[in-house]
Amino acid sequence: MRVVIAGQGYVGLPLAVRAAEVGHQVVGYDVDERRIKRLAVGESYVEDIPGERLRPLLDGGRYLPTADPGDVAGFDVAVITVPTPLRDGAPDLSFIEASAKLLARHLKRGATVVLESTTYPGTTEELLAPLLEAGSGLRAGADFHLGYSPERIDPGNPQWKLENTPKVVSGTTPEGLAAVDGFYGQLVERTVPVSSCKEAELTKLLENTFRHVNIALVNELAMFAHDLGIDVWEAIDAASTKPFGFLRFTPGPGVGGHCLPIDPSYLSWRVERALGQSFRFVELANDVNSHMPDYVVRRLAEALNQRRRSVNGSRVLLLGLAYKKNTGDARETPAARIVELLTRQGAEVRAADPHVVAGVHVAEPHDAGPLATVHRVEATPEELAAADAVVLLADHDEFDYAAVTAHARYVLDCRHRLTGAAVEVL
Ligand SMILES: NC(=O)c1ccc[n+]([C@@H]2O[C@H](COP(=O)([O-])OP(=O)(O)OC[C@H]3O[C@@H](n4cnc5c(N)ncnc54)[C@H](O)[C@@H]3O)[C@@H](O)[C@H]2O)c1
Repeated sequence: MRVVIAGQGYVGLPLAVRAAEVGHQVVGYDVDERRIKRLAVGESYVEDIPGERLRPLLDGGRYLPTADPGDVAGFDVAVITVPTPLRDGAPDLSFIEASAKLLARHLKRGATVVLESTTYPGTTEELLAPLLEAGSGLRAGADFHLGYSPERIDPGNPQWKLENTPKVVSGTTPEGLAAVDGFYGQLVERTVPVSSCKEAELTKLLENTFRHVNIALVNELAMFAHDLGIDVWEAIDAASTKPFGFLRFTPGPGVGGHCLPIDPSYLSWRVERALGQSFRFVELANDVNSHMPDYVVRRLAEALNQRRRSVNGSRVLLLGLAYKKNTGDARETPAARIVELLTRQGAEVRAADPHVVAGVHVAEPHDAGPLATVHRVEATPEELAAADAVVLLADHDEFDYAAVTAHARYVLDCRHRLTGAAVEVL
């Protein structure tokens, strides 16, 4: 089959590669020409897809990365994996709209279109279907199939990949569901059909809101436990031995990436719009998680104060700019806010992160400011020793943790990775 994947990012690229590997003819369409140029020479910017996996597909002509809209023509299946950000607190579906208009021009009878981008329930039927119908003159359900299948990609997770993670699938009609299920059934070990697109759309938001709320719960607990002189990490470890009814979540410097800071707000926006009610759990979790960088800076200021130092004039080394360990994804990363706060208070901020490469995901408009200008260094023994304080934000495996504890004068460990006399945990 000829498959088009619109959007070649963290979600679209692994999907395109997998579809090509099972034997489809895949066009990876993206508007970002820099990315397409890199993909065309077998260079991947997504950690989970090494260049070695791309090159045989490119050489064999099974995968065509392209920024040319004309290459989209003639598809049997098209999947939309474009960004769905927030703009002034409201969903920005302009990327989905742009993809829909392009695909509509090339839509043929019997083809299947699937949306994977995270969005509020109703988007596939209320926004995507009318755009595809208007641009093609065909009718969804009658002339072409339409469905929604939420992505569960967990970048950097060595155990759960696209292939072995169950995939929820849906269609606007039983035939549409069968077409979507048939396509994904070739790519993953198990599909999970649900009865309509709205349930599939809600599934994704439920999963992300669940994580967001539980992370906020342990973050708030960590702040109170610290003030009460109780080791929250030990309590979390102990609670995690309960074989039922408890799931382990750990505190951190805040949430980042494309999902947690954004997706739950899609749900609360929808609830507010449709029902006139606020989704209190989401708002509370947003409030707690978005203030974690302020808490990190406050803890750092207190620690420096105990050492008769002020933030102003102190040299602070941040370890890890990505929002998550072992990835280079710095979108919405709490490190950006921490850099901004510390710099504003007069600290001399340096940062080490072997994964975050300037110009890849750091260049997102909202991150560009503080992260583009922070002084980047390697976490050498000299850098560690010269810092008044070291803050571990993302515990990448590449860092030499023995060197950190041996050379740093003071460490604020936001990930509970270190022990030692100079180490304090969040
Ligand atoms: N990253 C994750 O872990 C993850 C997990 C689950 C769901 N999602 C969801 O998947 C969607 C995509 O996320 P991502 O992380 O892959 O984003 P990404 O930014 O890594 O990739 C999106 C790509 O789409 C491209 N693009 C933008 N407009 C386009 C257009 N009109 N046509 C073609 N390409 C276009 C961008 O240039 C970019 O390369 C989002 O809705 C996100 O919420 C992401």
